[in-house]
Amino acid sequence: SAAEKGGYDYFMLKEIAEQPKAVADTLLGRVDDAGRLSLDELRIPPEEVREVDKVVIVACGTAFHAGMIAKYAVEHWTRVPCEVELASEFRYRDPILGPRALVIAVSQSGETMDTLMALRHAREQGSKVLAICNTNGATIPRESDAVLYTHAGPEVAVASTKAFLTQLVACYLVALYLGQVRGTRSSDDIREQVRELSRSADGVERVLSTMEPVRELARSLASHDTVLFLGRHVGYPVALEGALKLKELAYMHAEGFAAGELKHGPIALIEEGVPVVVVVPSPRGGSVLHDKIVSNIQEIRARGARTVVVAEEGDEAVVPYADHLIRVPVTPPLLQPLVATVPLQVFACELATARGNEVDQPRNLAKSVTVE
Ligand code: G6P
Repeated sequence: SAAEKGGYDYFMLKEIAEQPKAVADTLLGRVDDAGRLSLDELRIPPEEVREVDKVVIVACGTAFHAGMIAKYAVEHWTRVPCEVELASEFRYRDPILGPRALVIAVSQSGETMDTLMALRHAREQGSKVLAICNTNGATIPRESDAVLYTHAGPEVAVASTKAFLTQLVACYLVALYLGQVRGTRSSDDIREQVRELSRSADGVERVLSTMEPVRELARSLASHDTVLFLGRHVGYPVALEGALKLKELAYMHAEGFAAGELKHGPIALIEEGVPVVVVVPSPRGGSVLHDKIVSNIQEIRARGARTVVVAEEGDEAVVPYADHLIRVPVTPPLLQPLVATVPLQVFACELATARGNEVDQPRNLAKSVTVE
């Protein structure tokens, strides 16, 4: 009913709007005055966390993209090797596990069969499993050794939005916690990162208040067949997520690429008028990645692409090459996905509407897939 949708036309719009609160709620009470993370639900004893020699993240769909982003944070902050794998692939290839591997199963519903089978396999091999889940008491957290709940509240729309942002927050918290227990992160640093995570909730709010041009752009692309997405570093999984949203909602051919791979194949797809969404890393600190992606934008534009550039406020270098410019607030580079994903959600939702699709219940999809 309209009341359940809080005055929005679709649950998805309501859930997109709830993201600042979902992010803030997921952070609530996780850090004490001394800047120490206390993840109470995470019942793995510190001695065991110190022994971990590998982190393996398993998930499906949007949750898998959260896992891909987590890898950058885990390895950067803790120096522990981290793998990310689709749950449906992981289970069946005889992965190398053991008591020192920490397996993290990321699932909004906590009922996804592929993810459940992956975690069962990991536990049979003697690994500890930590669930990151949005549903209290679901099967995946029940069968795991530990759980960190995301506090997104119920997510009704099939396409995941606020759950994704809170999965990111939970992944960042776990990475920082590993860094805390293993002594690779100081408490000052952890406090600062948590502060940045809270600030990103305001950042999401700011992004949401500037979305009218994105909706307009989406409507103007309603008759296109293809949209490509490019990103680098943590912007790469953001590009994949942007493309997944368009497939799910707009039923368009949408594909995400690592911008560095462009020259190894995808650039052949660029022709006159193809919209290409580019997620640009921060230029701060003289990032080489930023310069490389600016040349990618120039290259594709020279070949006729219509460039839709998602860039940090104050990044002037991209302006001459952006047919459409979407600004996101300044964040620490690792946290950029929290703000950069939001315009892509709005873009997909509006395109779906413009194409007359059912936003909350896309064809052929289920919110939670309980078969393998
Ligand atoms: C389904 C949904 C996706 C979701 C995926 C994983 O395919 O349509 O939106 O990302 O399952 O769901 P989970 O509940 O495990 O996060």
